[in-house]
Amino acid sequence: MRPVILCTVLASLAAVLADSLPPRNYNTHDYYAVHLDPSIAPAEFANHVGLLYEGALGSIKDHHLFKCGKNDGDIVEDAIQELKRRRRKREIGLDRHILDGIRFNQKQKLKPRMVKRTAPRLVPREGLPAEDTSAVAQRKIAETLNIQDPIFNEQWHLFNTHTPGNDLNVTGVWMQGITGKNSTVCIVDDGLDMDSDDLRDNYFAEGSYDYNDHGPEPKPRLSDDRHGTRCAGEVAAGKNNACGVGVAYDSRVSGVRILSGEISDADEALAVNYKMQLNDIYSCSWGPPDDGKTMQGPGILIERAMVTAVQQGRGGKGSIYVFAAGNGAANDDNCNFDGYTNSIYSVTVGAIDQKNNHPYYSEQCSAQLVVTYSSGSGEAIHTTDVGANKCTAQHGGTSAAGPLGAGIYALLLEARPDLSWRDVQWLTVMTAVKFEATSDWQVTALGREFSHQFGYGKLDAGALIDKAKDWKTVKPQAWYYSPWMHVKHEIPQGDQGLASTFVVTEEALKKANLDKVEHITLTMNVEHTRRGDLSVELRSPSGIVSHLATARKNDEASSGYVDWTFMSVAHWGESGIGEWIVIVKDTVQNEHSGNFTDWRLRLWGECDNADIQELRPIPGEHDDDDHDEVNTVTPHTTTIVVPTPTGDPAPGNPTDHPERPVNQRPSTTAGPSSTEPTAKPEETPKPTQDNFLPSPFPTFGVSKRTQIWIYGAVALILMFCCSLAAYFFIARRQRLLNSARENYEFEILEDQADGATTGLRSGRRKQRAGELYDAFAGGSDEDLFSDDDEDDNYRDEKGYDEDAEEYTEKSRLQHGVDSGSEGSGSGPAR
Ligand SMILES: *[C@@H]1O[C@H](CO)[C@@H](O)[C@H](O)[C@H]1NC(C)=O
Ligand SMILES: *[C@@H]1O[C@H](CO)[C@@H](O)[C@H](O)[C@H]1NC(C)=O
Ligand SMILES: *[C@@H]1O[C@H](CO)[C@@H](O)[C@H](O)[C@H]1NC(C)=O
Repeated sequence: MRPVILCTVLASLAAVLADSLPPRNYNTHDYYAVHLDPSIAPAEFANHVGLLYEGALGSIKDHHLFKCGKNDGDIVEDAIQELKRRRRKREIGLDRHILDGIRFNQKQKLKPRMVKRTAPRLVPREGLPAEDTSAVAQRKIAETLNIQDPIFNEQWHLFNTHTPGNDLNVTGVWMQGITGKNSTVCIVDDGLDMDSDDLRDNYFAEGSYDYNDHGPEPKPRLSDDRHGTRCAGEVAAGKNNACGVGVAYDSRVSGVRILSGEISDADEALAVNYKMQLNDIYSCSWGPPDDGKTMQGPGILIERAMVTAVQQGRGGKGSIYVFAAGNGAANDDNCNFDGYTNSIYSVTVGAIDQKNNHPYYSEQCSAQLVVTYSSGSGEAIHTTDVGANKCTAQHGGTSAAGPLGAGIYALLLEARPDLSWRDVQWLTVMTAVKFEATSDWQVTALGREFSHQFGYGKLDAGALIDKAKDWKTVKPQAWYYSPWMHVKHEIPQGDQGLASTFVVTEEALKKANLDKVEHITLTMNVEHTRRGDLSVELRSPSGIVSHLATARKNDEASSGYVDWTFMSVAHWGESGIGEWIVIVKDTVQNEHSGNFTDWRLRLWGECDNADIQELRPIPGEHDDDDHDEVNTVTPHTTTIVVPTPTGDPAPGNPTDHPERPVNQRPSTTAGPSSTEPTAKPEETPKPTQDNFLPSPFPTFGVSKRTQIWIYGAVALILMFCCSLAAYFFIARRQRLLNSARENYEFEILEDQADGATTGLRSGRRKQRAGELYDAFAGGSDEDLFSDDDEDDNYRDEKGYDEDAEEYTEKSRLQHGVDSGSEGSGSGPAR
């Protein structure tokens, strides 16, 4: 493909230029990132406004960096304003001006440090006796592969002798000779001890840089700069006499240091795609604070850098981003409030512990793709530490899970270097292993199971690489954007939710060249005086539910959601055709209230015709807020009852009740109305077992018995409810038979569906209302979000907050002492 080659050439050119950027010094200079029209020479622009040209801003097309002595004002912005002022006064000779070539300008300021995602609280190890046969097997593996690393037998995540099977299932892959050769993982973190005996041989200097102290070596310098080295050890600790081994012990590992001080967006943008033709995978165990009240994403420069890497990195196959999901679960935090983890370009990895339990810290969200092992239930990850030959047994949090994912992807790329960034996500979806744990598992369109807590299950290196061997690479990415849906309606409080619907037509997707959905994103505006009270869910045409936003007890912000984009991977493999319903709830009855302003749905996925598909344009500054009046509609809006989470424990594992049917219509007597509180799950009428599935349901190509099992599993997940998904279809079918339905007591507040331009259905509101009613009656899977025993654990262990605070204080102190940057305004270190 020519564009790819061209891109690669351009990227290499840009990379060469990027190397010429002199180090920044924010103490003495101001820096400006400017996107210039290619017709403008940067040096000429610099001359004109009185700046010095530093060089191209890495690989981001037509972006440049300029500097000047420190100055309170914004020189570029002032110049633009001055020109505008003169134009208003109609001064002559100003028709075409060099400043008109500015497409974007941003004076760089240092922002608080990103937060490392180490577990806030580490638990002491339990002295579990090793199981004999497993220990023998482990010894044999070590012998066969000639592993003599002293702590290999402690590295339970690689081969578990305590709770056999609860590991990465990686040793079989090593036996096949796949150990990460020719793959490079870049640890974007607080440094990497390249002199460590365990990392020295695999260290890749060319892919490394220090954006905190501006130099070529990412050496840890502060006393708490241990995090990156520990992550690097998980990936690429060598097979030698030091500590243990990495998941991909023959891979290369580089370090890009950004977490040891404040950093500007321009520098972070340079960091996240540093040497993107040499670094294959970027492992990022950090993000905005996980305090349950932050809602923050990457700045536009960083976003552009990531899109550039995904389109041009790795020779056009796309850089792989792995992000730790976040440790804020105990704060009600959710990884959809973090713009890094909810990017379609990153694989978000959460944690499970040695017993396959959900650790109290690991965040849930609809954007989480997968989980893997980390600290909890008395164990943590054993890996390399800073020092010549130092190890730690205390690496944890989602920080430790992410790099294990990155290591597995290094193995994957050795086996199949031709995979695109989307193939990597596809293979993850297709091979992650569901395990016995109570959660809100839903069977997706592909017949996979998804939970907001565990994504598609746990990463399994063996299964992933087996599947990859004959994997047919996917066609290029296509996308479909809905119009902006103008709701402009107040949100009811308590049990009710405000539902807004949009129908995606087959023609629209054809026109968009979109064949199959992978990610969906939903950008929305909600005004609310207490943001933490809000929740948002999205129901797809096939009945899959994404909890895009969940209520957050700590989030007092009065700003609502401002052009925020949520993401979900739960709809992977759906056609996308049909009615999408977004439901906004104000979950708490109090003096805080708000309005649902507008929303826009975007479907991203595999294209139909690869020959005509182009690359997504680089994100603009106003992609998420161009509420252009041309492309907007007033959607169908209703208030409906959405059951409140009851706090009851989640239902038992679906496999306990494989035969549960899903298609019984609920008795109307138990159905809630919009004016009554929602029925408790126990009151939900139980479906009977007389008939089986209606035709719209996919068969997944399996036997009827297995289908029963699969659909039974769905039914059980929604045990205290009536099955939403199936009911949606049943209600539709029933409607055709009998449109005279009773008991639709909810209120239709607006029905101005404009079908003319958007494919929105109109004139059917009674019926559609009926569907909604039946589909949502009788309970919610939201109760499944009530935390399980792990949360109880947390509650039992009082003083978590104090501990966390203490840890924070200590880290800050250390940081302050070592770096002399006390009071830098950095977020809490963890
Ligand atoms: C390693 O990667 C380079 C560049 O992609 C390629 O040319 C080379 O053949 C690879 N080596 C092996 C052993 O796969
Ligand atoms: C573990 O890996 C092997 C290949 O090494 C694979 O055959 C097996 O299916 C994997 N186990 C699971 C549970 O997926
Ligand atoms: C919601 O809209 C109403 C009516 O326009 C307005 O009075 C109210 O202030 C809005 N609420 C918020 C939180 O903006």
